[in-house]
Amino acid sequence: MDKLLFTPGPLTTSLTVKEAMLYDYGSRDDLFIHLIKDIRYTLLSLGNVSKEKGYEAVIMQGSGTFGVESVISSAIPKTGNLLIVINGAYGERIAKIASIHKIPFTSLVFAEDEIPDLEKTEQLLMSGNFTHMVIVHCETTTGILNPIESFGVLSKKYGVHYIVDSMSAFGAIPVEVDSCNIDFLISSSNKCIEGVPGFSFILAKKETLISCKGLADTLVLDLFAQWQGLETDGQFRFTPPIHSLLAFKQALKELADEGGVEGRAIRYHANFTMLKEGMAKLGFTEYLSEEKQAYIITTYYYPENIAFDFKIFYQELNQRGYVIYPGKLSKASCFRIGNIGRIFTDDVLNLLNAIKEVKTEMGF
Ligand SMILES: Cc1ncc(COP(=O)(O)O)c(C=O)c1O
Repeated sequence: MDKLLFTPGPLTTSLTVKEAMLYDYGSRDDLFIHLIKDIRYTLLSLGNVSKEKGYEAVIMQGSGTFGVESVISSAIPKTGNLLIVINGAYGERIAKIASIHKIPFTSLVFAEDEIPDLEKTEQLLMSGNFTHMVIVHCETTTGILNPIESFGVLSKKYGVHYIVDSMSAFGAIPVEVDSCNIDFLISSSNKCIEGVPGFSFILAKKETLISCKGLADTLVLDLFAQWQGLETDGQFRFTPPIHSLLAFKQALKELADEGGVEGRAIRYHANFTMLKEGMAKLGFTEYLSEEKQAYIITTYYYPENIAFDFKIFYQELNQRGYVIYPGKLSKASCFRIGNIGRIFTDDVLNLLNAIKEVKTEMGF
């Protein structure tokens, strides 16, 4: 029996998404090539852009980080300069990527429970030293929602290319790629679109994508070359994640059936609210204040009670069929519960009942 995943991903998927993988396609099969085209087209529409508006969707094999590394290592010349706005582990990971690829960068670091400050960011951009800026949309480390629209205004004002890691938000938090001035938005197959793991994807402003030609310092993660491959014969340069693309096509259909991004947002928000109220009743305290919190994933402090042991708490819930997630904070002891994936308020209610039971059993 499948366990329900209350995590930041990979997530619980529907049976129909899993069933969509029961077929073998050749990577050069016309049907498969058509499927890739269709998926790329639909992805653009989820970001409220299109080919006609000058945007391109590129699919990159691998997990979400492959997509992030592809953009960072393909879009920023060694003569460029990247401003990385950080308030969590995924922002820190971008700095690590830039460092490995020897891309000049500056990290502007904020606390994990703090929304990055626009004025401080603007002060740096004013220097005219930067060519690119990157920020994480929902910092899954805590679940904080970063104001990508306001940072987009700054990127436009100071003429820097704008990269958004929207891994855990895209598909559930509406985004206007064009009006946010985003050059590259990155997400992956196994987050809010509710597909299975296998690839990341990048929505890119075509003009900026073209300017990436020849900049990449790896073969496989070369974003421009990947796009060129997909455009010229509709195929991937290297073995495609065929089954996860089949699953993704079904997941996109289920997203549309649910009312698109807005419809999915309603369900996730309902999950979030039910969890929030239930956990408060059980005496758990949220790490983030309400106005900073997105409805994607919620971080809770460990209860201040010596009877609480996260490992046991986790295992007991796991045995009952519910998978929660450890914390990722540098300073506070916390755990996380995701509100995303093929889960509904009834599932959240069942999780809350299980938490209540385990809490009583453990005596905290
Ligand atoms: C905001 C963000 N960026 C990047 C990643 C990395 O994705 P992956 O673990 O698929 O490589 C994640 C994963 O949860 C994420 O939430």
